[in-house]
Amino acid sequence: MEHLIIFDTTMRDGEQSPGASMTKEEKVRIGKQLEKMRVDVIEAGFAAASQGDFEAIHAVATAVKDSTICSLARAQVGDIQKAGEAIKPATRGRIHTFIATSPIHMQHKLRMTPDQVLQGAIDAVKFARTFTDDVEFSAEDAVRSEMDFLCRVFEAVIKAGAKTINVPDTVGYSIPELWADRFKTLLERVPNADQVVWSTHCHNDLGMAVANSLAAVKAGARQVECTINGLGERAGNAALEEVVMAIQTRKDYFGVETRIDATQIVPASRLVSTITGYPVQPNKAVVGANAFAHESGIHQDGVLKHRETYEIMRAQDVGWHNNRLTLGKLSGRSAFRERLKELGIELESEVALNSAFKKFKELADKKSEIFDEDLHAIVSDDAVTPTVEQYHLVSLTAHVETGEPPYATLIITDQDREVKCEAYGAGPVDATFKAIETVVKSDSELLLYSVNNVTEGTDSQGEVTVRLSKGGRVVNGIGADTDIVIASAKAYLNALNKMTATFARLNPQVG
Ligand code: KIV
Ligand code: ZN
Repeated sequence: MEHLIIFDTTMRDGEQSPGASMTKEEKVRIGKQLEKMRVDVIEAGFAAASQGDFEAIHAVATAVKDSTICSLARAQVGDIQKAGEAIKPATRGRIHTFIATSPIHMQHKLRMTPDQVLQGAIDAVKFARTFTDDVEFSAEDAVRSEMDFLCRVFEAVIKAGAKTINVPDTVGYSIPELWADRFKTLLERVPNADQVVWSTHCHNDLGMAVANSLAAVKAGARQVECTINGLGERAGNAALEEVVMAIQTRKDYFGVETRIDATQIVPASRLVSTITGYPVQPNKAVVGANAFAHESGIHQDGVLKHRETYEIMRAQDVGWHNNRLTLGKLSGRSAFRERLKELGIELESEVALNSAFKKFKELADKKSEIFDEDLHAIVSDDAVTPTVEQYHLVSLTAHVETGEPPYATLIITDQDREVKCEAYGAGPVDATFKAIETVVKSDSELLLYSVNNVTEGTDSQGEVTVRLSKGGRVVNGIGADTDIVIASAKAYLNALNKMTATFARLNPQVG
């Protein structure tokens, strides 16, 4: 069977989701998990977007050895230079350079003639080849580009040294039959098409990103660009877990295989959800909490008699139910450190390790069984905070009584000063947020509030996501605790800290 390359862009296109910015440490954790899952290519970011992203790609390229590490770059000298430097430590490094080829983008966005775009593409690929042999070229908005021009550009960049040609449906406009036709035509008409790997990159605006990607594979694409949980700009990108499981489950039809270790899919999904604060909808294919739950009596009866009556995949094959009971109340610091290491979590300093260990001990006092997910939540809770933390929770009392208005009193630190705040609200969480606002007066808008169980049972930690927006800036705050009011306060303060922090992540929204 032919090999299908899985190119993960969770940390680049996925990061372009509002508020989904990731820190360097978070990118390394995700990178390690993707490596464990045996992803072929990891697009770790867009090196020219910010110094922070440059450093993050560099750190991923240093930490991950079994996957190719890639940086995006516009077809510009400065971008390509940054990308080349960022991927330097990688065992295998790739530069992914792109320029738009559709009339609407060339005319209105780039203000360039087709000939200028063609020349820009050739120059970019040639320059990128001075850093690495592994150069990918993308024709942004290929879906709305004229076929003749697209063929000309692709033929020229292949001659210039591109090894992968990516065909993006940047705006999520295509439908499977048309997308397959586009690939068939390109493969037939580009004279040197056989010298490269053809890649598909689909957005999900019409809910067809996965279907379009699979249609492209059937038509000859041998790389799929996708993201964990389908994270990404607007409606997101093709979901990695769906593409991989479709290819695996229906290999009779597709005739290709990936090298993905599917048992790492659910842990990867959880990790990305925890870090970005984007919850996974319960009925999401493969990784949703209900993806393998049978509710109707007839279905349950059938599955009990013979699993395959209603199941086409096994839950454990994609990593459900393999959450390991990892540590207990009596585990010491070195066992804790060791387990974090196995999970790909390397805390930067002894101070960070001490803080996480203290939280682990506190949690072990409240909850008898500690799972890997708990450790991820503890570390995220600790590590998502910007280096300079303006607000910090000291204590919280919430009062709830039938017939009485809910009330919350908190002590928080504002810089180094302790302040007390209190408020009534519709419920204890509402009262908590209102109380915090009496001090902070952030003037931000609450876009999202969500709570997820980290593990099962009522003693589970609740992981809260709070998304705030102010003046066009969107941030996600995360907090975890066995008490969801405390988790909510932590998440709200975490979002406020991110809002006030000056670390800029000015990723141009490229599609
Ligand atoms: O959607 C898109 O066109 C992109 C390119 C940069 C590959 O993300
Ligand atoms: Zn994209």
